[in-house]
Amino acid sequence: MQILKTIAETRQALTPHRAKTTALVPTMGALHAGHLSLVDRARAECSFVTASLFVNPTQFAPGEDFERYPRQFERDAEMFAAAGVDLLFAPSPEEMYPHGATTTIDVGDVGTRLDGAHRPGHFLGVATVVAKLFHILQPNRAYFGQKDAVQVAVLRRMVRDLNFPLELIACPILRDADGLALSSRNAYLTPEERTSALTLPRALDAIREALAANHPNPLEAGRRLIQSNPAVAPEYLESVDSDTLLPQSPQTPGTLIALAVRVGKTRLIDNFLT
Ligand code: PAJ
Repeated sequence: MQILKTIAETRQALTPHRAKTTALVPTMGALHAGHLSLVDRARAECSFVTASLFVNPTQFAPGEDFERYPRQFERDAEMFAAAGVDLLFAPSPEEMYPHGATTTIDVGDVGTRLDGAHRPGHFLGVATVVAKLFHILQPNRAYFGQKDAVQVAVLRRMVRDLNFPLELIACPILRDADGLALSSRNAYLTPEERTSALTLPRALDAIREALAANHPNPLEAGRRLIQSNPAVAPEYLESVDSDTLLPQSPQTPGTLIALAVRVGKTRLIDNFLT
């Protein structure tokens, strides 16, 4: 696996592979099996697999966890190599945002809903860095996790609106045996908080069951479960169209049921499609 830190070297290294179907798996590192499932899917569908590792400062608001975000470059590089990544792009903040760079990508309303409402400016940072990664690595297929369903909606919007010549692929959420969705941020949780965090998948299960039982207001079952645990502070629980993120009845097949909470200082998200 080649590890490249500059845009110029990366473009040069990609030139001989232009004819191949190229994949990109963008990450912020602190890898877990969820990230690696994206690499596996990319490996199965593409003949050249690139990944990026960049803790993008512009998607963290002041006071969020940018400084303490887990950084473990050597381990991550080994994991990417073992998973079959051909080229890892791991730039510095200065390489990605040279002095004087001011252009940003604003996808409009879809970037202001759910997580976008609670993290103002977050998706401006995400869309801008992902657009840059698409231009630098020029993948035919880009792989993202459905874990971040709102991010997928925002990036699909960007790809459609700006005619990026690539296919965006959303991959299923990988979970621990107890149901908690894998996340780099799970590393922040104390053992007690980790137990409280199980409220997320349990709340979603309760909603799934209520839906199956034709309950008139299935989200209530999840809301009750969250409210029963004082260690879990709800941020949002919504039933929305997975593309526009506008409210939609959970009874409509394919509706996104998305949940965000705080457990202690850690913000956790989870979701499913009906
Ligand atoms: P990061 O949080 O590192 O996630 C990288 C990719 O892994 C994302 O597409 C995310 O949805 C996916 N992922 C995370 N947990 C997963 C799980 N349990 N199962 C399946 N996929 C999972 O998302 C970002 O980084 C950044 O916003 C990025 C797109 C790299 C832009 O900076």
